[in-house]
Amino acid sequence: MSAQIIDGKAFAADLRTRIAGEVARLRAATGRAPGLAVVLVGEDPASSVYVRSKGKATIAAGMLSFEHRLPADVSQDTLLALVARLNADPTVDGILVQLPLPRGLDESAIITAIDPDKDVDGFHPVNAGRLATGLPGFVPCTPLGCVMLLKSVLGDLSGKDAVVIGRSNIVGKPMAQLLIAESCTVTVAHSRTRDLKAVVARADIVVAAVGRAQMVRADWIKPGATVIDVGINRTEAGLVGDVDFADVAGVAGAITPVPGGVGPMTIAVLLRNTVVSAARRDGFAVDL
Ligand code: GUN
Repeated sequence: MSAQIIDGKAFAADLRTRIAGEVARLRAATGRAPGLAVVLVGEDPASSVYVRSKGKATIAAGMLSFEHRLPADVSQDTLLALVARLNADPTVDGILVQLPLPRGLDESAIITAIDPDKDVDGFHPVNAGRLATGLPGFVPCTPLGCVMLLKSVLGDLSGKDAVVIGRSNIVGKPMAQLLIAESCTVTVAHSRTRDLKAVVARADIVVAAVGRAQMVRADWIKPGATVIDVGINRTEAGLVGDVDFADVAGVAGAITPVPGGVGPMTIAVLLRNTVVSAARRDGFAVDL
């Protein structure tokens, strides 16, 4: 048996096309394009690459991109002042502060300073609370992208046994909340979980978000299960996920590759969240 390979790159490209259509419709109706402000502090090479890709994708979708680059030794107050300026700027619908921030800056205080209604990353505690209680808000991009991929393969997720490996605020916890909202039976496993293999073996849906190269093995997977690999690990053999792809693909029903699976979804969902923000602010409905 060989798993269906879930083509996140193609799904993300299709989503970006639909986003560009909704942007055009919004522009025609309101006379303005949605705007996304991205703040990069310091010169971490990986973060620089991400920020450049986000800017390019934003412009390609017909939106406005505002890039703010600050030196690594910027003060907390200067960064907070920039966030306050972006909160007040009517041309800015979405604000993203690229993480991780350099040492010396209080990440939590910066995220909490962002207007929750412009927090297109969905990292603000108000948005985490909205997600947990079923209120409209912003959902973190990577987990929302994972749910889109899952639904594209499985349709209705209700009643499925889902195991999320990892409990981060950015992926694991919001992923669990989204799966609960889809009426899955959800288990969140983490570094202290006993007999992880046995826990994963029960799952119809496995989402791996731990950051350990090829940790999830074929003999952990229930035959036919859907496996979503959020991991991006740089190894001597190149970029690999948290799942041993070659082996697991022989057991799973469907699986995301790395690269080309979850990764491309993150930026596409960021653009989606920005369009949704602009539409809400202008009193329009978008279908994305
Ligand atoms: N660093 C890595 N991924 C992300 C993301 O999705 N958002 C932000 N703000 N920083 C990140």
